[in-house]
Amino acid sequence: MGSVVMAVVNNYNPATFNTMQAATFGRPGMIVGGSVRVPGDKSITHRLLMLAAMARGTSHVRRPLTSLDARSTARVLRQLGASVSTLRADGSVTITGRGRLRQPSARLNCGNAGTTARLLVGLLAAHRFTTELTGDASLRRRPMRRVTQPLSLMGARTDPPEADALPFAIRGGPLAPLRWDLPVSSAQIKTCLLFAGLAGGVGVSLHEPQGRSRDHTERLLRSMGYTVAERRGRVEFEPDGRVVPFEADVPADPSSAAFLMGAALLADKGELVLPAVGINPTRVGFFSVLERMGAALGLQDLAESWGEPSGTVIVRPGALTATEVVASEIPSLVDEVPMLAVLASRAEGVTAFRDVGELRVKESDRLTLLARNIRAVGGNAEVQGDDLLVEGSQRPPRGRVVTQGDHRIAMAFSVLGTVGGARVVVDDPDCANVSFPGFAATLRSIRR
Ligand code: S3P
Repeated sequence: MGSVVMAVVNNYNPATFNTMQAATFGRPGMIVGGSVRVPGDKSITHRLLMLAAMARGTSHVRRPLTSLDARSTARVLRQLGASVSTLRADGSVTITGRGRLRQPSARLNCGNAGTTARLLVGLLAAHRFTTELTGDASLRRRPMRRVTQPLSLMGARTDPPEADALPFAIRGGPLAPLRWDLPVSSAQIKTCLLFAGLAGGVGVSLHEPQGRSRDHTERLLRSMGYTVAERRGRVEFEPDGRVVPFEADVPADPSSAAFLMGAALLADKGELVLPAVGINPTRVGFFSVLERMGAALGLQDLAESWGEPSGTVIVRPGALTATEVVASEIPSLVDEVPMLAVLASRAEGVTAFRDVGELRVKESDRLTLLARNIRAVGGNAEVQGDDLLVEGSQRPPRGRVVTQGDHRIAMAFSVLGTVGGARVVVDDPDCANVSFPGFAATLRSIRR
């Protein structure tokens, strides 16, 4: 990561601008402007709510995400005996936990949220009762053996054994320590197992194969006073004591910011300011990719809370050129591939995303859907093995986009619809509410 903004992210130096000429594709596009605080970080909100539910006493989480996914976590935690106040974007959510979870009286429905389901089973693995979990049609298609297999090695049982799809039941109990090599780099698997170690009071040592996934859990646990070591490419956690109540702030979600940054980059003129965006280096791999593509990004007002750095991101429109996104970068930008692929469809040249097979098991088969939708609006994209190749074009995008209810597909192509001369119809724009409440209104609000 040798880029200007990544140097700031990593070294906390003053921001530098890399100014490029505005893109002029098709008829005039939008003039972008304003300052927008994007919603709270989804990954951090899920984790903080669950950690607070495990504490005995009352915790406060400020500026949480209030989206459908966050509400799924709040809802299932209430069913498990925690008291969780209504999620309010500008306020603070209050969570009172009992030190342990309680057996729910009904099945837990995790909605569309893979993070809710996978993290929760880690906690449930250490609880001596049976819980049934399910989710919506998209979540029921997503692979679960990646968490149920290591959890069964620790001593938890699922029905069916090592279940690979929701719905399934999990019965927890006393756990054994775990040394495990993850089959894919995944923060959901890693956090599930760290949470099992935390709730069960047993050590966990984990290795990720293709590069480091987001490390929010490690940072949050350290901020709570636990020791989480990183040795020889392994994350090692020896839990020491129970979770105590806390107060924490949630930064704005860089993955949500990415869509507005994309809109600003594709605009004709102006400047967009996004305050308090999380800039954890394991999340913002897309900053380096954007800079390689020629994007003008700035970063200022750096701050840190609970081990999580944040800053004000400033974006100006810019002509983009193709790049290659290599496999080791993918874990740090896995949720940004839809926006980056759409930007690549407006960049000069062919952009390659290497080894993005994991996109097949996200909220939709994003790999297939991205290529199909880019073609549907007149662009050129194809899947070759596990690679996604996107050729840039200056033609105004026109056509109908199928989201299959995938929030990030909906937002990426809604952004494409802002370029000059575009006529892009997104079949289900409201599914953005999974992670970004009010996305369409926010996108309209930055148009000048
Ligand atoms: C998440 C991890 C990522 C990401 C998801 C949120 C998390 O999934 O795609 O949106 O909060 O841990 P994987 O860990 O499966 O890559």
